Amino acid sequence: MSFTLPELPFDKKALEPHMSSETLDYHHGKHHKAYVEKANKLTEGTKIQDMDLDDAVVAAKKKDQATFNNVAQHYNHSFFWKCLTPNGGGEPSGALAEQIKKDFGSYEEFKETFKEKGTGQFGSGWAWLCYGDNGKLCVCNTANAENPLTDGRKPVLTCDVWEHAYYLDYQNARGDFLDTFLENLVNWEFAQENFESAKDSVKNAA
Ligand code: FE2
Repeated sequence: MSFTLPELPFDKKALEPHMSSETLDYHHGKHHKAYVEKANKLTEGTKIQDMDLDDAVVAAKKKDQATFNNVAQHYNHSFFWKCLTPNGGGEPSGALAEQIKKDFGSYEEFKETFKEKGTGQFGSGWAWLCYGDNGKLCVCNTANAENPLTDGRKPVLTCDVWEHAYYLDYQNARGDFLDTFLENLVNWEFAQENFESAKDSVKNAA
């Protein structure tokens, strides 16, 4: 089974004015689509196409850089779309919120660190909230297609900080894009689900 471009989990205009339908036309319809097509070409006839996307990322890393880049960008974008929701953002509630307070001191401190990692990523990449095998949340950035899964951390939330993610709406103001992401777009419900399943998988591996 080959990789397929997922539908966006919201209407293309639903994130306006924070993220325009024009940005999504390019970002989902052209960039993500191209990663899927290249990933399929580079993994044709291999078992990578039959794996869960998490496992495919790790297997592609062992194969070669071009395969990794495209499979990981397929994972990263599929994950990113689910991290966005109309009327999202702001302070979360529930178990994830409690863990954020425990591991970062406060939601405000988490927000600051996440923005710092996003703006501090030199060139293209991603900002992540992850759950580590030490049972703690951490914030990190990765370059290009890199993904925390290959370092044994489970993604909870991500923001794409490649220029193609924000240039049409924010030009060079990546910090403004990250502010908007945190204040208006984060799908905390999805992050909560990822947090719960990451906790379970770390518990089961122990
Ligand atoms: Fe992107």
